[in-house]
Amino acid sequence: MEISVKVRRQASRESLPTYQTYTVEADPNTNTVLDILHKIQWDQDGSLGFRRNCRNVICGSCSMRVNGKAGLACQKLVSEVFASIDRPTLLIEPMGNLPVIKDLIVDMTKFWQNLAKVDPYVSTASRQISEQASGQEFLQTPAERNKLQAAANCILCGSCYSDCNAAAVNDKFVGPHALAKAYRVMADNRDDRHVDRITKYNDPDFVWGCTRCYNCNEVCPVGVQPLDRISQIKQEILQDPDLPESIAQRHRHTMVELVKADGWIDESKFGIKVVGNSFKDLKGLASLIPLGLRMILKGKMPYPWEFKRSKGVKEIESLIEAVQNREGKELESEASSSIEEVTRGG
Ligand code: SF4
Ligand code: SF4
Ligand code: FES
Repeated sequence: MEISVKVRRQASRESLPTYQTYTVEADPNTNTVLDILHKIQWDQDGSLGFRRNCRNVICGSCSMRVNGKAGLACQKLVSEVFASIDRPTLLIEPMGNLPVIKDLIVDMTKFWQNLAKVDPYVSTASRQISEQASGQEFLQTPAERNKLQAAANCILCGSCYSDCNAAAVNDKFVGPHALAKAYRVMADNRDDRHVDRITKYNDPDFVWGCTRCYNCNEVCPVGVQPLDRISQIKQEILQDPDLPESIAQRHRHTMVELVKADGWIDESKFGIKVVGNSFKDLKGLASLIPLGLRMILKGKMPYPWEFKRSKGVKEIESLIEAVQNREGKELESEASSSIEEVTRGG
């Protein structure tokens, strides 16, 4: 069948993008998006630029956006990515969150730099073989290896970073690929830098910058599920009594505490407890003043005397207690995540 393929073109970093449409004869059930790009490049327009190497979901080099979603061109069958079967069209664009060099080729420098920020290697010290152990291998049991299997599958294709909402708005956020790798080394029983790592990742540019939009899990072509790896790092941070409490942690704990007490969040207390650390952080409290003034002017200030406890507070309290008692403190972050979702939903 004939497919209409609209491709975003850009001659150089400096030039403005344009769109060019090609008509390609293809079998949507057997041809991949990469086959379509080859048909265009080989038969119609040799100037079209894109990356590819293995053509077999191994090298990670052919990531791009197809009909608005990032993924590997060599993995996606055309029939899977049609807007609908009645509209056999493809819109092919470069990955997001990275500058375009030419057409579908992006500059991955930032992606690699961000990866380097998590120190993505099992620590050098732990790799020193003592004289006594000389000649031995670093053996892992199957169970130890399984812990890091999902994260170790990453082929560094960039799809998750392309579609990451946090990376789109926070230039310093390291991205899902880097945090999946961070978990991979943290979960490795041979690594001896656990304390350094967990301290470093406990930061808004690392795990707490993630907005939990789920895009990375959705687009990852090899099941790394970066959001799940980020959640695993957060769990370890929240369970570590030796880490100084960050604002992000306080945010989570406070949310659970307030919802447990009143059934939903009393916003007049929230900022004071989280940013002001319950009057212990005066600088933090002062930083709330401009926001407070704007809220008063717009009539949005949540005054304590206007707050009413939820009628279902007893039920909510017992639900939270049941979760906390069943699994202990480690489930608190999950509870707070659910509350976050419920309260966001209304
Ligand atoms: S879930 Fe977090 S890391 Fe993943 S894409 Fe969304 S914001 Fe980025
Ligand atoms: S986590 Fe998945 S989507 Fe992200 S770089 Fe690795 S393989 Fe690609
Ligand atoms: S060409 Fe290697 S993953 Fe697509």
